[in-house]
Amino acid sequence: MGEIRELSDINLEVSLGPIRLKNPVMLASGTCGYGRELTPHLDLNSIGAVVVKGISLEPRPGNPPPRIFETPCGLLNAIGLENVGVKAFLTEKLPWLKDQGISTVVNILGNSVEEYKRLCSILSEESQSILAIEINVSCPNVKAGGVAFGRTPEGTYEVVRHVVEVTEIPIIVKLSPNVTDITSIAQAAQDAGAHAISLINTILAMAIDIEKKRPLLGNTFGGLSGPAIKPIALRMVWEAHRAVDIPVIGIGGISTWKDAVEFLMAGASAIQIGTATLVEPGSAKKILDGLTRFMRQKGYREVEALWID
Ligand SMILES: Cc1cc2nc3c(=O)[nH]c(=O)nc-3n(C[C@H](O)[C@H](O)[C@H](O)COP(=O)(O)O)c2cc1C
Repeated sequence: MGEIRELSDINLEVSLGPIRLKNPVMLASGTCGYGRELTPHLDLNSIGAVVVKGISLEPRPGNPPPRIFETPCGLLNAIGLENVGVKAFLTEKLPWLKDQGISTVVNILGNSVEEYKRLCSILSEESQSILAIEINVSCPNVKAGGVAFGRTPEGTYEVVRHVVEVTEIPIIVKLSPNVTDITSIAQAAQDAGAHAISLINTILAMAIDIEKKRPLLGNTFGGLSGPAIKPIALRMVWEAHRAVDIPVIGIGGISTWKDAVEFLMAGASAIQIGTATLVEPGSAKKILDGLTRFMRQKGYREVEALWID
């Protein structure tokens, strides 16, 4: 048994500004549907929070197929943010999450500042049932020629500044890794009033079908996720944590509890599990159990004690 120290007073709770989580393990948007889909495999009340699939003002059909392609160590997807739209989300999806008492974060997307604002105002009517709103800033800004909001500090600042004005629900800004300097974007989110940031979203990538001599995805480009992106995500979490004072949520290729520990050591206060859930739907609980065991064995009494100074 060696050095194992059993501590009964280990505290897994984390506070992301005003957002309280019973433990730091969350499910990432787009990989757990609207929560209910996972119930045969995972007790959603055992984890910190569920981040539902990105919601837009109107329903979206998504991109033409093929939309998913598996690479040797990661997943390429070009789903195109297919979702039921905010109205159906509030009437058909949220009531179940609310009844089950599941900590729910609503991920949102828009193509203009107005759309983000409108979504936040609509969601505010259900503020009792929504723990936080996660703003996906990787969407194209139609007024800026289709450049994603999250590509520039200015674009990020503009969206966040407006949404914090229209809702009391805490705001998490989900950063795109497809940028030159993640620190300036993280700082822009903080300056605009974000309560926390989460990173990373998928990395822009592609694959080619050499027999058909054309791109494999219907959309040509897609987002890479899974183990392939973990070292990049970890570096960005490390940089972002050192650039801002608000809490950081680490995402990107977390498949095992050891991966989770690395992100927490890099400075994350919580983590999200994405592609690993698609591989094994119960991954999040296994990761939580492994993390808890590690903290007990090593004598870490709280999550942020894992940070490397
Ligand atoms: C199929 C799929 C759909 C996704 N949909 C969304 C989405 O709607 N909104 C969003 O912010 N991120 C979305 N993501 C990104 C994930 O939430 C996550 O940031 C990314 O996959 C990296 O984490 P992972 O390597 O653990 O999957 C999606 C990812 C995948 C694989």
